[in-house]
Amino acid sequence: MTENIELQDSNHDFTHKHLLGLADYSKDDILFVLEQAKYFREILDRPVPKVPTLRDKTIVNLFYEDSTRTRLSFELAQKRMGADVVNFSKGSSSVKKGESLKDTIRNISSMKIDMVVARHKSPGVPHFLTRCVDAAIINAGDGAHEHPTQALLDMFTMQQVYPDLTGKNIAIIGDIAHSRVVRSNVIGLLKLGANVTVCGPKTMMPAYVEELGADVSYNIDEVLSWCDIAMALRIQLERQEGGTELFPSIREYHQLFGITMEHLEEYPDFTIMHPGPVNRGVEMESEVADSDRSIILSQVTNGVAVRMAILYLLSGRTRV
Ligand code: CP
Repeated sequence: MTENIELQDSNHDFTHKHLLGLADYSKDDILFVLEQAKYFREILDRPVPKVPTLRDKTIVNLFYEDSTRTRLSFELAQKRMGADVVNFSKGSSSVKKGESLKDTIRNISSMKIDMVVARHKSPGVPHFLTRCVDAAIINAGDGAHEHPTQALLDMFTMQQVYPDLTGKNIAIIGDIAHSRVVRSNVIGLLKLGANVTVCGPKTMMPAYVEELGADVSYNIDEVLSWCDIAMALRIQLERQEGGTELFPSIREYHQLFGITMEHLEEYPDFTIMHPGPVNRGVEMESEVADSDRSIILSQVTNGVAVRMAILYLLSGRTRV
């Protein structure tokens, strides 16, 4: 194990206590986090992929919604850095007995914790938590609002293909309205100078994306012929009142907005991403997800490194 942290560009004044959303982070903050994540990504390839720099920290993963990638990669990141980790799941907690969110977090905080990684179905919960406890709060997804660590790992993965994202053309295709990944990616990518077009059914297209500065298309061929990277999204039924009533059928959705092997042949240049979980046969054909144009599993690997970087920086350790 090594304890030597050699952060890059340590002149940047990273002063954030929390990561609630990328709206709060400047371009330089984002580039700084991504630069530090390169160091942690290298650690993951070492024979002993550990750097016990958070061994004096106690972190609670507070998950009120289901998760595979975000929760496990946060836990792995915390363990790789030597932190004490406790996991809270709504389904096996006293929330079932009626305990409020405020009482839950205040009771957990009384056990002396330093950081909280929170996922909740309601937008704004991470902000609410900052008013309840002193711990650093990291948003791991709040409703359809933001999922900042997902966007950071997405941008980190894009940088492995295009080190400078300035002027790169990024398409985000699918259920835009119910996605928290979209908002964080649009905010972050535009700050880094990328061109972002979102594409999906009109019934799944919120007004805010154009207000943020993204372009909108309803034609998948138009965006695939233009983009350097295409990020597909699943239909997020858990955040839809009417479920698939919002669109005629899953079959029609796939016909109009699914990425196919034919698309890969017709447009040979774009790279495929997806935040997961992939619904094979809906937003993309199964062969597309497994093709050599897909970097979906690299996103997952990079998620551990990016989360290590965020945990490190929010622990207050911005200097060697
Ligand atoms: N991308 C993402 O948030 O996946 P999980 O829901 O599995 O965490």
